[in-house]
Amino acid sequence: MKPLLVFPELHTERLHLRQLNIDDVDALVRHANNPRIAENILNIPYPYREHDAVFLISFVVQGFKERKRFVFAIIDKSTNALIGEISLHLNGNMAQMAYWLGETFWGQKLTTEAVAAVLQFGFERLELELIYAECHEDNIASHKVLLKNGFLKNRTMGKVIQFIKEANQSRKSPEEVS
Ligand SMILES: CC(C)(COP(=O)(O)OP(=O)(O)OC[C@H]1O[C@@H](n2cnc3c(N)ncnc32)[C@H](O)[C@@H]1OP(=O)(O)O)[C@@H](O)C(=O)NCCC(=O)NCCS
Repeated sequence: MKPLLVFPELHTERLHLRQLNIDDVDALVRHANNPRIAENILNIPYPYREHDAVFLISFVVQGFKERKRFVFAIIDKSTNALIGEISLHLNGNMAQMAYWLGETFWGQKLTTEAVAAVLQFGFERLELELIYAECHEDNIASHKVLLKNGFLKNRTMGKVIQFIKEANQSRKSPEEVS
């Protein structure tokens, strides 16, 4: 893998994905301060306050320095505003993916679009072997986002379902969710 000297920028039809920075604090607080997001994302408390967003930015910057985490701001190209976050947390040749979108923007297939771009980045640029995500069993919107992007259900851990996508999915045959 060629070394990544600067944080990557990804583009889709409607979205720009770029590194989070300190100017994003207000937008992060506005959108992430939502119990429907907090109940599905481990490191988002509710209420979500300015110091939580500032801490996140330092975590993100440090994570990229160590090439351990790629945390993207999801930017709506039509307004240039931050509307969510999507991340890859690396562990060797695997990574966990996590994401959330401001509730105002739900239901427009925007996360499906962001996930596709980050998967391509993870497999092609980072040369990952496997990307996984863990969701509550009742988080149907997130299950759909993953399934539409070719993830497969791998295992259930209590009330959490793990979905995986491999660089070469033909190497395995996990249970597929209908
Ligand atoms: C999960 C989340 C990111 C989805 O974002 P989104 O941009 O609305 O997702 P998309 O529009 O790309 O796709 C959602 C799909 O679920 C469907 N959906 C949404 N709510 C649903 C529900 N309650 N029951 C069944 N389907 C539902 C949508 O219709 C869509 O399917 P479709 O494309 O077949 O129409 C967003 O709801 C969110 O931020 N939730 C809180 C944080 C979170 O759960 N993160 C994931 C942790 S694993």
